[in-house]
Amino acid sequence: MAKDKILVIGASGQIGVELTMALRKIYGNANVIASDLREQNPLLQGTGPYVSLDVMNKEMLHVQVIRQNITQIYLLAAILSATGEKNPNLAWNLNMTGLLNVLDIAREEKLHKVYWPSSIAVFGPTSPRQNCPQQTIIEPTTVYGISKYAGEFWCNYYHQRFGVDVRSIRYPGLISYKSAPGGGTTDYSVEIFHEAMEEKKYECFLQEDTYLPMMYMPDAIRGTIELMEAPASKISVRHSYNLSGMSFSPKEIAAAIQKHIPDFTISYKPDYRQHIGHKALMIPWPVTIGVGNRSMI
Ligand code: NAD
Ligand code: SER
Repeated sequence: MAKDKILVIGASGQIGVELTMALRKIYGNANVIASDLREQNPLLQGTGPYVSLDVMNKEMLHVQVIRQNITQIYLLAAILSATGEKNPNLAWNLNMTGLLNVLDIAREEKLHKVYWPSSIAVFGPTSPRQNCPQQTIIEPTTVYGISKYAGEFWCNYYHQRFGVDVRSIRYPGLISYKSAPGGGTTDYSVEIFHEAMEEKKYECFLQEDTYLPMMYMPDAIRGTIELMEAPASKISVRHSYNLSGMSFSPKEIAAAIQKHIPDFTISYKPDYRQHIGHKALMIPWPVTIGVGNRSMI
């Protein structure tokens, strides 16, 4: 079979930058095409091809897929939880239309595989707070969570009905240092490190005892690529897999930073994101299905 040619949509974002670099290492720079609505992230410059692309423009997306002989798509373009609550229509439109455009094109062009991430945001206040199982009560209360849960069903539908090999992970909040987060409730866990280094203080938009599930970016990238490289026969979940790392609160992460920067201080000014955190994401999620034990699939 000819070598896979991969299109990453949303490559300039927090996950896109690191995932594109990791994919280029495996598949070769020329075989991984980065694309985004915004300009190329400086970290990707000179590492491989880049095209400017709007996932909402199905025709242009289709043209690129044919022109570039694409066989796999990683769809990362989305509006995240905090930005979504400010503009619910935009979040619903982008998160749904973008996914359906990609799934339709994957079906028509018989792409080998599609990757689309879901999120812990699918879980709402009625989901179990510890050892949250794969199949459980799922009643999201944010537009972001609703769009992710609906997206999971679309993925399963396109797989069952049209045979599209689409795979998905419910990422926890991802902590990275290479690229900035893009409007989520878990963003505080990245900002706090930058502010600690630059200002030695941080004003947190969540309460000190808000526990959220988190994961370090390299683990998420590894989990994603391992899922995508697994034989199709081993993929038993076509909605989206749970994947967990750790849960901690702002108070705990501040205490950990103080071990390295003793004069670091944290203050708390909860805003609308506290509401999102409490309602949709505040689930201590100890390791149930981790990348470490390879029991994901
Ligand atoms: P991000 O906001 O950092 O990046 C998204 C990228 O998509 C941006 O570069 C943006 O310019 C691009 N984009 C937006 N609209 C577009 C359009 N119409 N066409 C093409 N590109 C467009 O987001 P991220 O954190 O990298 O998240 C990527 C995916 O992972 C999303 O689906 C998100 O819901 C999911 N996810 C992220 C996290 C996390 O903690 N980062 C956790 C769970 C799930
Ligand atoms: N980091 C993401 C958010 O907070 C989780 O999906 O929106």
